[in-house]
Amino acid sequence: MKDQLIVFDTTLRDGEQSPGASMTRDEKLRIARQLERMRVDVIEAGFPAASNGDFESVRAIAEAIKESTVCALARANEADVRRAGEAIKPAARGRIHTFIATSPIHMEMKLRMTPDQVVEQAVRAVGWAKEYTDDVEFSAEDAGRSEIDFLVRIFDAVIRAGAKTINVPDTVGYNVPDQYARTIRTLIERVPNSDKVIWSVHCHNDLGLAVANSLAAVMAGARQVECTLNGLGERAGNAALEELVMAVRTRQDVFPCDTRVDSTQIVPASKLVSGVTGFPVQPNKAIVGANAFAHESGIHQDGVLKHRETYEIMRAEDVGWTTNKLVLGKHSGRNAFRSRLHEIGIVVESEEHLNHAFARFKELADKKHEIFDEDLHALMSDEIVTPEQEHYRLVSSRFHSETGETPRADLTVSVDGQETRTSAEGSGPVDAAFKAIETFANSGTELLLYSVNAITTGTDAQGEVTVRLAKEGKVVNGQGADTDIIVASAKAYLNALNKLHGKFERLNPQI
Ligand code: KIV
Ligand code: ZN
Repeated sequence: MKDQLIVFDTTLRDGEQSPGASMTRDEKLRIARQLERMRVDVIEAGFPAASNGDFESVRAIAEAIKESTVCALARANEADVRRAGEAIKPAARGRIHTFIATSPIHMEMKLRMTPDQVVEQAVRAVGWAKEYTDDVEFSAEDAGRSEIDFLVRIFDAVIRAGAKTINVPDTVGYNVPDQYARTIRTLIERVPNSDKVIWSVHCHNDLGLAVANSLAAVMAGARQVECTLNGLGERAGNAALEELVMAVRTRQDVFPCDTRVDSTQIVPASKLVSGVTGFPVQPNKAIVGANAFAHESGIHQDGVLKHRETYEIMRAEDVGWTTNKLVLGKHSGRNAFRSRLHEIGIVVESEEHLNHAFARFKELADKKHEIFDEDLHALMSDEIVTPEQEHYRLVSSRFHSETGETPRADLTVSVDGQETRTSAEGSGPVDAAFKAIETFANSGTELLLYSVNAITTGTDAQGEVTVRLAKEGKVVNGQGADTDIIVASAKAYLNALNKLHGKFERLNPQI
């Protein structure tokens, strides 16, 4: 029997720390459900002390998720730990992850604490966390630049206080594989009772070494890897879940452990995260990039046709590339629609909501005869809106674009239930649509990103548009999907404004 390698996903916490990747509670819930379906062991759902929104998201995930452990992050202070403890209370399995910095530069310049004080605070934090759950993880922030003797000392102390998982983060992505593996090996050798805890690694990708460092640490004895989908995360990101899982799975001849992850859920999960955050996946990205299994050169194509394994070390279907199968069509009924939503983890709260979503599904099926899971995700992204997000809604649109003429958009938008007509001209129909919306929204936002992706293949595919807007330091991503990409663009812009509206009382007090 091989050891289990625990997969700790932090897409919803460290991933969300990528500038521009903030997610709503409902988006986080959808990702959490997909992570559970993928059989991720631990979902780090957020940092409850950071804001009420974070607290609510962690609590909602703790209520919804039954199979994976739901974890909340807390700095090593009483208020943070208690907030994390309250947030995970409803969880079937809840974990508190508390951390404090241990490198000389962080202790001296950031915390302004002595090493003795840091050890004392870490021990107290573990004690507070144990009042809520037995499953307590302790992280030595910036362990990658900490002194080994000090790490031995603090880990010994927190294990005695009851921590069950010891995490050794390379917070600034400074380590190289040999060195990092040596650190893990030394800690396991020197820390008393090291065999009573799980050793965990958390690597950042500043030098592009996050996955390599994590895998080297696994060879040295680590049995938990902290990672994110698509490698999302602070600065250059965290170790990519899909790469770690598939490296270990594909190279079972060298790794002494394996994960429980259902790898066929990887590509759908990657697409979901990319759609929600608006962070596209580069085509040549390992495992989840559009070209990851494409062979361009004639020699390679010839080889693969003769014998697949000449150039392929994994099967595309094993990571979920073929889940893009036809699931529903225009003749599918309400029950088939509901049960497919359920299968892909989308819970519809009420019959009224289901009826509304089903009507929109029928409209889509009329325009686009084959409906795939990705279409359902996009449709439901539009559908799942909380009342505070439904300030603006696109009712109807007309666009005029002709060679030699200035493009024009005429829109009818519902503003808090009241229909408003608006028109504008622009350099193209998308520009005209955004200007038309701005004539009444007057949002004062800056457009940081506009991107269009085809959700599935074919010219009848829905276009999924992401619009990223910033206002006074707040950044939101809006999504919209439609077979008409101009309509999708208008929906995405309104969706972003709705999210901002939730953050600011009203964008334009006159409306
Ligand atoms: O990178 C880091 O050190 C972290 C800790 C909070 C684990 O994200
Ligand atoms: Zn981190």
